[in-house]
Amino acid sequence: MAELGVNIDHVATIRQARMGIEPEPLLAAAIAEQNGANQITIHLREDRRHIQDRDLKILRETIQTRLNLEMATTPEMIKTAREIKPDTVTLVPEKREELTTEGGLLLTKEHEKQIKELKDAGIEISVFIEPDIEMIKLASQIGVDAVEIHTGRYANLKDDNEIETELNRIYEAAKVIKQNGMRVVAGHGLNYHNVQELVEMDIFEEYNIGHSIISRAVFTGLAEAVYEMKTLIT
Ligand code: PXP
Repeated sequence: MAELGVNIDHVATIRQARMGIEPEPLLAAAIAEQNGANQITIHLREDRRHIQDRDLKILRETIQTRLNLEMATTPEMIKTAREIKPDTVTLVPEKREELTTEGGLLLTKEHEKQIKELKDAGIEISVFIEPDIEMIKLASQIGVDAVEIHTGRYANLKDDNEIETELNRIYEAAKVIKQNGMRVVAGHGLNYHNVQELVEMDIFEEYNIGHSIISRAVFTGLAEAVYEMKTLIT
């Protein structure tokens, strides 16, 4: 049964629009957990545009499921993660000017040291990468526990043939992740429609979904939005 990680960055984005105290991401995490989320995912960005250090600290203390921290591989973030100890760290690329995480991480052998530092603190390591077979093999050689395939390209395609090609690429990549003993995860740009093709592959163990759940929540409430997505993926 696949698990659902709910990304609550967008709740913090609305709060930061007024630099105030609402909506409270902590409340969003609790509602998501009560309605089927297996994990709460947050991205503490270098520019602190949405999630704040205070959110990370309080969520670490209050989350009842698992905390997945998306972060760049900077010394500041590695130090923070080692102190706070999220259950999982997902290493992502970060560019100041991007609207959201736009491409996968270009994983290299150089990441091995940072991965070890985080694993020594008892943290599971996931990497957010494109469905690239060579990079997946490298991930398994340098101690990665889980690979989150960047599904953004699939989500943005309109042409049926291109969609089919990308889905095949994703499936082949997912098989290699599994063969190499890592957890198979998908995320980015997934919604109530396009996630179904991935569910049919019956290979993903976890999905991390944010924007579409929070968007639906505007109209249905967060409880229903999370519950509906959980029902779709399981
Ligand atoms: N997974 C990762 C690694 C991400 O960076 C993001 C976006 O923050 C997501 C999943 C969620 O993407 P979306 O908001 O498009 O569902």
